[in-house]
Amino acid sequence: MQSRLRDKWVLITGASSGIGAAAARAFGAAGARLLLGARRVDRLEQVAAEARQAGALEARVHGLDVSRTLSVEQFMTWAGEQIRGDQPDNRHLHVLVNNAGGAHGLDPVAEGKDADWETMFQTNVLGILRMTRAALPLMREAPGGVILNIGSTAGREAYAGGAAYCAAKAGELQITRALRLELCGTGLRVGSVDPGLAETEFSMVRFKGDAARAKKVYEGLQPLTAEDIAEAIVWAASRPPHVCIDELLIKPTDQASMHRMHRRT
Ligand SMILES: NC(=O)c1ccc[n+]([C@@H]2O[C@H](COP(=O)([O-])OP(=O)(O)OC[C@H]3O[C@@H](n4cnc5c(N)ncnc54)[C@H](OP(=O)(O)O)[C@@H]3O)[C@@H](O)[C@H]2O)c1
Repeated sequence: MQSRLRDKWVLITGASSGIGAAAARAFGAAGARLLLGARRVDRLEQVAAEARQAGALEARVHGLDVSRTLSVEQFMTWAGEQIRGDQPDNRHLHVLVNNAGGAHGLDPVAEGKDADWETMFQTNVLGILRMTRAALPLMREAPGGVILNIGSTAGREAYAGGAAYCAAKAGELQITRALRLELCGTGLRVGSVDPGLAETEFSMVRFKGDAARAKKVYEGLQPLTAEDIAEAIVWAASRPPHVCIDELLIKPTDQASMHRMHRRT
């Protein structure tokens, strides 16, 4: 059966690595037209080539920093131009994946760094506001259009050292729920995809390049892969227009909670 996503415009933030890059390849395999954003444009070009190879009808890239309003506006102007250049019946954005984000540091509140906390709120929370506000006018006429925000188990369960990241992802979840109420009646759908431990560049970023510390996070257990989450994102985005996947919580089998993990070593 042909995918419901074939030919559709799909915009993914944070597509230069991890879950966003895997989502680009997975939407590509469904025959979508991709608009990819992140700060590392060279990495985006590589992901776009992989997505085209997987079957994407288009895969175009542009620099994007979701923590800066001007950058988001420039990106969305570019995105609008790409979409408006398409056939008259396909001039709308079908899927927005607000994926850009991550954690910075694992300090207890008593030692929290302003810069880390500000970055986490700028990307995981305000990034969603900026992207969604700018993307909605491109989606209005899209029956069955869908916005998927990438949350986290951290938004549902606090852990020591995770105060700001947990707060930011709890914010993402509540923003998603509020937006769901606001969009009810428009035909647009919105949902949150919330992964547990997934082995990507996430921990390298959190621990500021400390590879040994990053590796320890996944020691002895089998984490999720970026592809596991990408598969769920594409599934949620390809339900029939009358079906909205509000919330998806996806964890490794070895992770019952942040405080109950099965480690073999
Ligand atoms: N891995 C996990 O265990 C896990 C679990 C739950 C939730 N998540 C969430 O999943 C999402 C993706 O993370 P990941 O695991 O795939 O980690 P990742 O490999 O580090 O990918 C993060 C992506 O976000 C982009 N990004 C970061 N800051 C940005 C900014 N200011 N503007 C634009 N793009 C930005 C990065 O691109 P550039 O650096 O090139 O800008 C990169 O493409 C995040 O929201 C993260 O919080 C991850």
